Amino acid sequence: MVSLSGLRVINLREGDLQEVMELGHKCFPDPYPMGLLEQLYKSDPSGFMGVRIDGKLVGYLICTMRWGGVGHILSVAVDPGYRRRGVGRALIQKALERLRKEGATAVRLEARKSNLGARAFYTALGFKEERELPHYYEDGETAVLMWYTYPT
Ligand SMILES: CC(C)(COP(=O)(O)OP(=O)(O)OC[C@H]1O[C@@H](n2cnc3c(N)ncnc32)[C@H](O)[C@@H]1OP(=O)(O)O)[C@@H](O)C(=O)NCCC(=O)NCCS
Repeated sequence: MVSLSGLRVINLREGDLQEVMELGHKCFPDPYPMGLLEQLYKSDPSGFMGVRIDGKLVGYLICTMRWGGVGHILSVAVDPGYRRRGVGRALIQKALERLRKEGATAVRLEARKSNLGARAFYTALGFKEERELPHYYEDGETAVLMWYTYPT
């Protein structure tokens, strides 16, 4: 599919969280509940970013800084009707830029082992699989820990 040109990644506000939650329900078997989204937003509002097309939230990403110069991408999702058009890539690139400005030297994330599409997506964007984290998810599934290291 042809990539969308001129995608603009915006900062999300507290009033956008309902839409974030609804998009999460479309994209994940275990979406973040509203309480968790609110808690994450309060602790780091600048880590919430999104892409709107014709006013509709079609993608979001949540990231934050951890201790020791490590950025963490907690969640990224794109509406099924808008995938493979560069929305996810635009979100990750913006998050990598932002985390770098905040002092990150590397960025981590976890993906479900069975989520081969997401693992291929992160690999295409420069992340490398480091190791498995057994029983990482509530349903017992293993996660794959992936890292991005900034070029020097
Ligand atoms: C993973 C996800 C965010 C990707 O979003 P997207 O907007 O479709 O991604 P992009 O169009 O920016 O893809 C960039 C590149 O990543 C790779 N990629 C993306 N999705 C892929 C897939 N399903 N399988 C293989 N490679 C994929 C491709 O190389 C793609 O470039 P191309 O389309 O030119 O070949 C989206 O599929 C999604 O929301 N999935 C459900 C939620 C999820 O699994 N989130 C991650 C949790 S760890």
